[in-house]
Amino acid sequence: MNKIINCWNRHSHYYKIAAETNPYQNKKALNILINYAKQSNKILDLGCGEGSILNMLQGNKKELIGLDVSSLAIKLARSKHENCKFIKYNGRNIPFKDNYFDLVYSTYVLEHLANPEEYIQEAIRVTRNNGFILFIFPNYGSLVFKSPCFKGSLIKRSIRVFVKYLRNINKRTLSRLYWDRTRPMLDIEYKPDYDTLCEPDLITLIKFLRNHNCSIEIAKTFWKIENFSKKAIINFLGQLFVLFFWLIKIPPLKYWGLTALIVAKKNKP
Ligand SMILES: C[S@@+](CC[C@H](N)C(=O)[O-])C[C@H]1O[C@@H](n2cnc3c(N)ncnc32)[C@H](O)[C@@H]1O
Repeated sequence: MNKIINCWNRHSHYYKIAAETNPYQNKKALNILINYAKQSNKILDLGCGEGSILNMLQGNKKELIGLDVSSLAIKLARSKHENCKFIKYNGRNIPFKDNYFDLVYSTYVLEHLANPEEYIQEAIRVTRNNGFILFIFPNYGSLVFKSPCFKGSLIKRSIRVFVKYLRNINKRTLSRLYWDRTRPMLDIEYKPDYDTLCEPDLITLIKFLRNHNCSIEIAKTFWKIENFSKKAIINFLGQLFVLFFWLIKIPPLKYWGLTALIVAKKNKP
């Protein structure tokens, strides 16, 4: 955990890139976040980085809180966005009481977590009844993608992902996420997501949230290739394959795109 926090304290260039690109990344997913933020007054960004996404959600009488484990992120965020409040926390216990927020969300954080179950349960705890939890994340646990930290045989991996899907196919809820762990590459020059700790996947997340008294409002994936390296082309062909099945709406393929978005509503106990 400390190694990962140190990593986030070192990479000011990551936060610089995030500040420049966040407003243009995956506009469809961001627009959904903006719409939910319009209906919410108390909003928490759980892993806010340099704060530019939270800052986009400003509005009348809104209480905008950003939490992060990185003191560098919090320092940068505080220096840029005066209308939001940024707090460093320990990455485990959210320093707010139960049912406090109308909307709790994160963007591109789930894949960096050592204990995603605990993080999600904490997010649910501080969301009010009938409030919303929203996550945007790279769907690295899908059949056709993987994180940069994945090492090993792609064929074995595909079989494992497919078997996992079949094993859980008739379960409506899951008490665990079963996301594969990865070993972060912290000793070489940093590139985006070289510090990935797990491979999130939308299908198990849907079932996990249902198990924690939430109902799913939106669960979808997006297909987008950022740059055309050799690996990206292979990914792209995979995406075309998935897209074909998605067009004819065959689950689970419509849930195996690269970027995933989920919105869940916390039900009354
Ligand atoms: C890829 S960055 C995303 C930052 C921001 N959400 C964005 O979209 O620009 C991941 C962030 O998650 C933070 N993080 C890592 N573990 C965390 C945890 N347990 N709780 C909250 N934030 C965490 C890191 O410090 C980092 O700022």
